[in-house]
Parts: sequence; structure tokens; C-alpha cells
Amino acid sequence: MQFKVKPSSIAGGTITVPGDKSISHRALMFNAIARGKAHINGFLAGEDCLCTMAALQAMGIKVERNEPTSVIVHGNGLRGLRAPKSVLDMGNSGTAMRLFSGLLAGQDFDSVLTGDDSLSGRPMGRVIAPLSRMGAQIDSNDGKPPLQIRVAEKLTAIDFEMPVASAQVKSAVLLAGLYCDGITSVSEPAVTRDHTERMLVAMGANLKERGNSILLQGGAELNAVDIDVPADLSSAAFPLVAAIVGQSAEVTVQNVGVNPTRTGVLDILQQMGADIRIDNQRQAGSEPVADITARSSSLKGIDVDPAQVSLAIDEFPLLFAAAALADGTTRFSGIAELRVKESDRIGAMAEGLSKLGIVVDETEDGAAIIGGAMSGGEVASHGDHRIAMAFASVASRAASDITVTDTDAVNTSFPGFVECVRSIGVNITEIEDAGS
Ligand code: S3P
Repeated sequence: MQFKVKPSSIAGGTITVPGDKSISHRALMFNAIARGKAHINGFLAGEDCLCTMAALQAMGIKVERNEPTSVIVHGNGLRGLRAPKSVLDMGNSGTAMRLFSGLLAGQDFDSVLTGDDSLSGRPMGRVIAPLSRMGAQIDSNDGKPPLQIRVAEKLTAIDFEMPVASAQVKSAVLLAGLYCDGITSVSEPAVTRDHTERMLVAMGANLKERGNSILLQGGAELNAVDIDVPADLSSAAFPLVAAIVGQSAEVTVQNVGVNPTRTGVLDILQQMGADIRIDNQRQAGSEPVADITARSSSLKGIDVDPAQVSLAIDEFPLLFAAAALADGTTRFSGIAELRVKESDRIGAMAEGLSKLGIVVDETEDGAAIIGGAMSGGEVASHGDHRIAMAFASVASRAASDITVTDTDAVNTSFPGFVECVRSIGVNITEIEDAGS
């Protein structure tokens, strides 16, 4: 599909967005290997998390799904997964592939993890290296998927210093650590999202944080835990930015996850001058949630602090789009990781913004974006959900229509995106891709 967005004024409103992707994956996976039955409410019924669900079902886990966002997982215990009959398809999801590689490394059966074209080009050496040190037997296509995981001797706990700040790598090693005797420790070069740690502690794991290290005692069974999945801040950010760059808009997104390891996008936008309010902060299980309100604001260019990168890792496409409409230059650095996401996100945003008349000076690990008038035109999403939604969220402010091509991947993380942003006044329609 394609998005066509016409210049429009955003009215705003009070809305909800789908559940958090990171938490939905973990809620399924961790409860599948726990003892007992868990109700997951607010589950993200997006393609990525449905891949995780299908893979668990293929390994004998019973999942009841009476409504799309309400799921009951029947845990089979730490040793309860069964050999799948065929390859496990992770679709577009890096989170599913990396977390499953850790979970499956310690099983007493072989498995194969595959993915779509985008995922098949993404680096898996970052999980293969530490898991191999633990004794895992993993073959890959030169560090890329598919991954063939073979039965190994019992895994050994390691102390692992992560070379890249990655919650996926951290989680993969900790999941493998559940199958080791002794303490697995992972230290991170920068703080990354800590949903794994919070959920494992809630399930009774012996997990401690010491400085920048996470220490997990392996071998013990987990207890199933009910989870109310908060709305995904990474999705909420799109309508919030649509309001911020709009003319006299106000948008409130309710019940959004505001885990401090995820809120970098709000801090960066506030530094740029955005009017953002966080109300009604409360706890949903082990995660903090709040209602977030954003109002139209005059944004100014800033130098984005590289210390914020891991706290806003998925929001840089949107921040690039917001920077294009700011007064002055916004400089991003230390974001080389964006080049190995669902697409090369620095390259994709630089290409699209340039087509819309914005001056972008791309560097290896960042970009300088000179805010200015945005023209209409056609931009490619490169099949990347967040690139598609980033352009669509600011397109109302362009001089004429913007077309975003190849937008199907939006369903991986934000089913209902078009209806959601339309409800606040974005003049957006979906049309078939030319030639499809
Ligand atoms: C995620 C971690 C991040 C993020 C991804 C979800 C997770 O990836 O970009 O969308 O759920 O652990 P990295 O760990 O590769 O930075």
C-alpha cells in the first residue's frame, strides 16, 4: 500500500494506540516457559508479535485468543517447549529472532529461525558470539539469518560485556542464562530498555542489577504472571509529533508506557521546544504508565545528546522528520545502529527528506538536518514501518501532497495507524502501490 497525505490542519483529540511491541513479545515468550497460566491484556496484535505467538504454538504452547488483544498463555515450564515440525518464521522482527536465538540455544531439540528479506540482511553475529561462548551451536549465513540452532551440551554461564548497547542482545543472553547453572552477567555500555529484567523479576527470577551489569541466577523455574501491556510510546510518538508540528493542535494519548529507558524521545522533543505534559503517572504491573499530551509548538534545532541514543533508539526517523520542520539545524550523532534496523534509517530519512526539499548532511553515524519549508513529493519507506509513519506524521505541514510508498510494514507494529492519525485530523488515505 501507499499513504497519500494532503496538507491539513490537525485538530487533535484524546486517543489510544496499540500495546507495546517489546513487552508483548516478552509477555508471550517468558510466560510460555513459566509455570501456570497468564492473561495478557492490551497485547499488540501486530505481525511481529504474531510471529512470536505462532512460533511458540509450533513448539507446543497453548495460546487462547478470544479477542485480538487479549491472550491467555498456558506456560509449560522452563523445559516445556517441544521440537517444532518446521522452520520458525520471525517475519520482519529482529526482536523475535534475537530473543528466540537465546531461548532456543539451551533446548534439547534443533530449530531453524528464518525471516523476511529485511530481517535476512540484519546482523546476528552480535547474539551468535556470546551464545557460542556459552556453548550454543548456531550456524548462520555469514552472521545473518537463517539461524540453525543445534542441540548443545548444557550451556555455561558467562560474564558478557556487550560491545553494542542492545536490549535484544542483553535479553538473548539472559534467556540463555536461564538454562545455565550459576550466574550469567551482562554489562551494557549504555542503558537499554529493561522490560526483560522487570518481567523476569516479576516472575520470581533471581535477577539483580549492579552498576551497569545485570546478574541472573540460572536454573530456577519462573512463575506465570498476568500482564497489562501499556500502549507503546514508540507508536504514541507519531500522533504526538503530528500535533507538535501542527498549527493549533492538542493530542492526548492515554495509558502509555513511560519506562525511563524508553522516554528519550520525549526529552529530546522537549529540548527542541515541544510542549509535552505527562499526567496521571501510575504503575501497570512492573511498568510505569501515564497519559501524554502534546500541543503545537515552535521547534528549534539542537545538538542531540548521544547519551540519549539508546533511550530513543526507535524514534530517530520521527525525530529527523520533526527536525526538518524546526527552526535551525539539528545534529544527530552516535546513531550508527540505525543503519542496521529494518532499513538503513539514516539513509532512508536523508533520501526522503531531501526529496521534500530539506537539506540533510548525512554522516556515517548521524546527520545534520537544516529545518525549512517542506515540499510535496513521493518518498520511499524502504518497507520500514517507522520510516513510513515518520513521513506520514509530519506530511500535513508540507506545501502539497506527500505520497509514501510501500507502507504494508506498518502492520508489524501499529495496526490501525491510518485510522488513528486520521482521527486527529491528518488527511491520509491508503491506496494500492503502483504495479501491485
Ligand atoms: C527492542 C530493542 C531495540 C529496538 C527494537 C526493540 C527490544 O533493538 O530497536 O525495536 O524489544 O528489545 P536493539 O536491541 O537492537 O537496539
